Amino acid sequence: MHRTLSVASSPVRDLLALTSRPEVISFAGGLPAPELFDLDGLRAAYDLALRDRSVLQYAPTEGNPALRSLVAARLTGRGLPTSDVLITTGSQQALALVATALLEPGAVVAVEEPTYLAALQCFQMAGARIVPVASDDEGLDPAALRSVVESERPAMLYLVPTFANPTGRTLSASRRAQIAALAAEHGFWVVEDDPYGELRYQGSAVAPLASISDRTVYLGSFSKIGAPGMRLGWLRAPADLPRTLVIVKQAADLHTSTVDQAAAAVYLTHNDLDAHVARLCVEYGARRDAMIAALPATVPDGTTWSDPDGGMFVWLRLPGDVDSAVLLKEALRHDVAFVPGAPFYATTPDHATFRMSFTTNTPEEIAEGMARLAKVLR
Ligand SMILES: Cc1ncc(COP(=O)(O)O)c(C=O)c1O
Repeated sequence: MHRTLSVASSPVRDLLALTSRPEVISFAGGLPAPELFDLDGLRAAYDLALRDRSVLQYAPTEGNPALRSLVAARLTGRGLPTSDVLITTGSQQALALVATALLEPGAVVAVEEPTYLAALQCFQMAGARIVPVASDDEGLDPAALRSVVESERPAMLYLVPTFANPTGRTLSASRRAQIAALAAEHGFWVVEDDPYGELRYQGSAVAPLASISDRTVYLGSFSKIGAPGMRLGWLRAPADLPRTLVIVKQAADLHTSTVDQAAAAVYLTHNDLDAHVARLCVEYGARRDAMIAALPATVPDGTTWSDPDGGMFVWLRLPGDVDSAVLLKEALRHDVAFVPGAPFYATTPDHATFRMSFTTNTPEEIAEGMARLAKVLR
């Protein structure tokens, strides 16, 4: 079979269609809250950007120079010294570019288990073989990685070290150091996908893996801190890689939308994104707390869940031999939704798991949604 035919459509995207009935309280999608978009700031930025006709013209593949230096300065300010970035059409495109540029068909990609399912799709599309690595509450387990590295010789390790999708977990600093050392010793690439890192509600920041590993490609995104509809992401690559990645991007889409990049550059110049992110963190932190507080009365005894310090997700596992996909059908009859966990596994799924997002609903809606869910789960 041609390899694209064997890649399934994302069940989360399919599910979003089912949960779009207005009466459904959905904990399914990993969407930012639309009422928190900085609509006025972005409208003004587009207005200013559009005073220059060149923002409607073709542009260089690498991206808008002003935006590149603003993003590089922002990363440097967050503890990741950066001289340049490649602007991508969302970090999803960065994943596809990295897969095309760095993976030969049949190459092995090690991934934390469970992991972001659209990354799995990208690697499958590139013809890679995906090998899962066990993870626990502290994230990917370096001992399990060592044994996968020694037996499977992966070309790449993919992980979301901070507030992971789907688990919400964060990889500890000491594990980051062990993974960086393994990458240096064995020469595999690390792809650090970090769309959620700035959304921290409690605890203190952990330095990006890319700041301690020159084998690491770092991916960032405007989607969760700005607006995903703008489709703006960035890629910070170790020396030697940027040229190849630019050529792959040329073939993919020539360049990311000129007008959206220009508006983002204007926005970053005239607005305080840090202050906006701080507002998001206050709101999302309250929503996180509302969901965590409601959980004991929502789920059956014996259920376990992650306790995320940031990001968008709580990851749960029900006791016994249950299938969360079956429970979802029942939940939809009660006008509430979540994402079954199975698609987040590269090989053998744990059907008792599921993911809940707390960002798109207010604390009041979360309380109501959790009450509906309790009727299904308890
Ligand atoms: C871990 C992870 N990586 C990448 C993406 C893609 O984000 P973007 O909108 O930047 O393409 C997402 C989106 O949900 C994600 O959760």
